[in-house]
Amino acid sequence: MPAGSRKISFILNGLEVTVQCAPTRRLLDILRQDLHLNLTREGCGRGECGACLVLMDGNLINACLVPAFRLPNTHVVTLEGLSSDKNLTALSEKLDASFGCGYCSSGVLVALAALLQQNESPTDEDLRRAVSGNRCVCGTLPAVLEAAGEVLDKRRKKRHGRKS
Ligand code: FES
Ligand code: FES
Repeated sequence: MPAGSRKISFILNGLEVTVQCAPTRRLLDILRQDLHLNLTREGCGRGECGACLVLMDGNLINACLVPAFRLPNTHVVTLEGLSSDKNLTALSEKLDASFGCGYCSSGVLVALAALLQQNESPTDEDLRRAVSGNRCVCGTLPAVLEAAGEVLDKRRKKRHGRKS
């Protein structure tokens, strides 16, 4: 056990977890290496690319910038924890084909899930703003957003049709 390590508990995807680690260990490493939740990815490692986005107490946060000592009493949700989010599942199935290499996809999907939790009917501008912290080196993000806009538009029309 590394010197200075301690037990740190927090809520992850709805369940309490306890890890033993240095207080400065990054949440990203706790997720990927200690808990084997590999959908949260590492890109830049310095808060600039959004590959490691998770929700912490409902807010988007880069897991590469969060030290373990900040975790007690927080609720963290990763893309794994969003798998039962109906809004997101329907969307992500349609978006898969629009991503290039897919490396940024987890961060983008978490960012879109955060938006849809606040606003079920976002505009194209809302979608663009939601992923402003995500870097896609393949340059396919515009196509992904276009596909997202189409899915949401269809959903809106379906709902509207049902009401009329
Ligand atoms: S890996 Fe965290 S923001 Fe890039
Ligand atoms: S699809 Fe390759 S980085 Fe975004």
